[in-house]
Amino acid sequence: MNTLVLVFHPSMVNSQVNRALAEKAESLGGDVVVRRLYDLYPDFRIDVTAEQQAAETADRIVLQFPVYWFSCPPLLKKWEDDVLTYGWAYGSTGKALEGKELLVAASLGADAYGREQEYTYTVTELLRPFQAMANYCSMTYLEPFATVGAMSISDEALAQRVEEYGKVLTSEKLPLLDRLG
Ligand SMILES: Cc1cc2nc3c(=O)[nH]c(=O)nc-3n(C[C@H](O)[C@H](O)[C@H](O)COP(=O)(O)O)c2cc1C
Repeated sequence: MNTLVLVFHPSMVNSQVNRALAEKAESLGGDVVVRRLYDLYPDFRIDVTAEQQAAETADRIVLQFPVYWFSCPPLLKKWEDDVLTYGWAYGSTGKALEGKELLVAASLGADAYGREQEYTYTVTELLRPFQAMANYCSMTYLEPFATVGAMSISDEALAQRVEEYGKVLTSEKLPLLDRLG
């Protein structure tokens, strides 16, 4: 399974969680290719052809990012706006992503997600725009790999998360998330 991991972190030098996860992904090699988008496009001028080619070769696309303001960092939004073009990602001839898997690997500083909790909404709900995007592009949306409590994670918990990420990225079969799940 060719896996493309797209890492979107605006300040990797200050990152703990995403840096460790990205380094794990990079250490896997083989069928796992990692692209650090903020390094590639510090000026936000995305090479659309290069990104579309990278996506075309993948069976599974992983969007890895820290959640900022209950959403994604701006370069990921721009990647969607620029790369997921009509006639390529959607529209009657836009079949480039059809059948590919989409895995969101997001870290959240807080952990109080869900009903009766401070942030009210579940992580699954906050990530719905990505699920809707996957549906729209006829992709298969996988259960997100969410790391909550990322701002206060212990070294042991992070090490465990990193191992789990390695297993997820090399697993042929991952759980799907139902459209209303
Ligand atoms: C501008 C900004 C906005 C943030 N917004 C949220 C948020 O909405 N929800 C949350 O749980 N954490 C939020 N955080 C915390 C980050 O999600 C957290 O620091 C990050 O996931 C940790 O990963 P890292 O070590 O790779 O940076 C925010 C952090 C910053 C800098």
